[in-house]
Amino acid sequence: MEEKCEDIISKMTVEEKVSFLVGIGMPGIFDNPPSKVDGVAGETHSIDRLKIPSVRLADGPAGLRIKPKREETGETYYATAFPIASMLASTWNKEVVERVGMAIGNETREYGVDILLAPALNIHRNPLCGRNFEYYSEDPVLSGEIAAAFVKGVQSQGVGACVKHFVANEQETGRMQIDTLVSQRALREIYLKAFEIVVRKAKPWSVMSAYNKLNGVYCSQNYWLLTEVLRKDWGFEGFVMTDWYAGDNPIEQIKAGNDMIMPGKAYQAIPFGRKDEVEEILKAVASGELKEQLLDQAVKNILRVLIKTPSFKNYAYSNKPNLTENAKISYEAGCEGVILLKNDMVLPISLDTKLAVFGTSQLETIKGGTGSGDTNPRYVINIIDGLKEAGLRIDEKLRVIYENYIEKMRQTEEYKIQQLPWGWPLIPLLPQDFLSDEDIERFASSNDMALLVISRTSGEGYDRKPEKGDFYLSDDEINLINRVSSRFHSQGKKVIVVLNIGGVIEIASWRDKIDAIVLLWQAGQETGKILGDILVGKVNPSGKLPTTFPKDYNDIPSKNFPGEPVNDPLTISYDEDIYVGYRYYDTFRVEPAYEFGYGLSYTTFRYDNLNVSSLNNSIKISFEIKNVGSFAGKEVAQVYIKAPLGKIGKPLQELKTFHKTKLLKPGEVEKIEVRLDLSDLRSFSGSDWILEKGEYELRVGSSSRDIRLRSRILLN
Ligand code: BGC
Repeated sequence: MEEKCEDIISKMTVEEKVSFLVGIGMPGIFDNPPSKVDGVAGETHSIDRLKIPSVRLADGPAGLRIKPKREETGETYYATAFPIASMLASTWNKEVVERVGMAIGNETREYGVDILLAPALNIHRNPLCGRNFEYYSEDPVLSGEIAAAFVKGVQSQGVGACVKHFVANEQETGRMQIDTLVSQRALREIYLKAFEIVVRKAKPWSVMSAYNKLNGVYCSQNYWLLTEVLRKDWGFEGFVMTDWYAGDNPIEQIKAGNDMIMPGKAYQAIPFGRKDEVEEILKAVASGELKEQLLDQAVKNILRVLIKTPSFKNYAYSNKPNLTENAKISYEAGCEGVILLKNDMVLPISLDTKLAVFGTSQLETIKGGTGSGDTNPRYVINIIDGLKEAGLRIDEKLRVIYENYIEKMRQTEEYKIQQLPWGWPLIPLLPQDFLSDEDIERFASSNDMALLVISRTSGEGYDRKPEKGDFYLSDDEINLINRVSSRFHSQGKKVIVVLNIGGVIEIASWRDKIDAIVLLWQAGQETGKILGDILVGKVNPSGKLPTTFPKDYNDIPSKNFPGEPVNDPLTISYDEDIYVGYRYYDTFRVEPAYEFGYGLSYTTFRYDNLNVSSLNNSIKISFEIKNVGSFAGKEVAQVYIKAPLGKIGKPLQELKTFHKTKLLKPGEVEKIEVRLDLSDLRSFSGSDWILEKGEYELRVGSSSRDIRLRSRILLN
């Protein structure tokens, strides 16, 4: 391989080398011709004389994003919509996520794409980041492990994954110019850590550098980040590409170790002051500013990977991935990612339950977020159809009222569905409180129970707001909850709330008014079916929160989001440092609404027999989990470490590893053994990792605040 690359490079002219490093411009946008695979986000230059084909790159984290229809043939190219990344992380199940990766990888290959622009593993630093749905967790170990499983799955199909956005890209506001100021310690322990795990464990073919600056230097132009850390420290062997139109200097990008510039022709999108990258780089080579050796290195980094792609191998893709099989995988992953937040003796419900379903998202169910993380599936099973498919009896009259209401409202100027630039939809949230008291009373009398759907959308390009209608429920949502629950409760009937959302919202102030809360997330094309099967108990919920739900927005650690100056931020300082998510809430004793790692089940589990032994540099931890309830189910065991007081401050506890059991029948026991490396216990201090001496507490929990077993180990 190495020789083959050297040989090809030795035959390339300087012009060919440079063209190879810069994409052809965004296919199908501006005056660029569409790609053969319409809808891909990028494509590389071919060099016919050397038999180098062009290679295609497409998003994204919840499934392959290509155009579902091509005008010339009328044929369809639908791709499966999988649960959003936060929901994949909520499964805490690496095998399931690996299968999702395999399915997406298979669709990538069979639709003629070579590199999937996913996974995205920025950290849930603030609940309002518009792209949190594309990201996994507030914790780097959960993020990194889930992403590694995803990458392994994708790449097992002979296509590449691209891990993005490297690094510290935790907001959309000002994303193309913001300077993210982060300490070395927070970088190493939190923001870089997630990427480090994936790079070391799954060897992704490529990494996408982020839009933002990191401590003063654009990530795509940051030698320390791309060369010292990524390549030298972690041994990354793939290639680095920019995010689309990122940075401001292609020569600095190449010098920093950012091998590929995407999508090319930045002047088309950013007309002021941007020149043709190919011309700029060629000039720099001619003047000696950029050594040809550096070009060769970048070309080699890319070529080594591209040689493995289906396009290079002339793979005859079928355009016929197995959408039926992949739908099953999407369903299975979604079932494992649903989180039961509250259940006062309501769920599961029996099939003869008559349900009155409230909320417009029973019909306008949200499958995922918008932007490059969107998908174009063959269908989306909405909530109402999913409930019916599960065998539940739905109040049809109420459904028809909602149908008519939505149709009428979507024709008004204020609530019509709009197309944003790049073809992304904007679907305004409809007012929810439009039924009369008499109507609600009537539906309470003629049904056994109420189910109320609350939904939110978010997407690339903008952040969410700490306001009613977004982070907080709107007044009309609260009114609907109040009116429905008072009418149903006065007749002794229960109310279930389903959250069809992509990110954290406020729950604490209204949760006492209702009887059960199901966090359905945005589960992809099978969303409704997944909910139906959870409600009737065909599936026992086993998801756990990958992110804290705080009681109030004012409780969060990242208070300065989205930076300074407030209206058009140029800098964002990560002042909370390593105290992100539960690391903050636990250490500073701030009570959340629902803690990291939390999630209920229809059964209960007992933890027993913790044994901890250390051998050389590793710690062996074994324990047992028994299903002591009467319902088959799966449990997620989480292993946290509480470090001793040492030279540097530490969070109260940190997740180090986790294990999801198989489906345990009532009475069944699973023996679990996990291992840690002593190096997992280190902290970053000054310019290096240190392992502090003393007594470490090992905590095995069903959530971060429900620790069931403890043991200690002494390091001296
Ligand atoms: C996004 C990336 C995406 C790329 C190509 C950018 O705007 O930040 O995540 O992969 O576009 O669509």
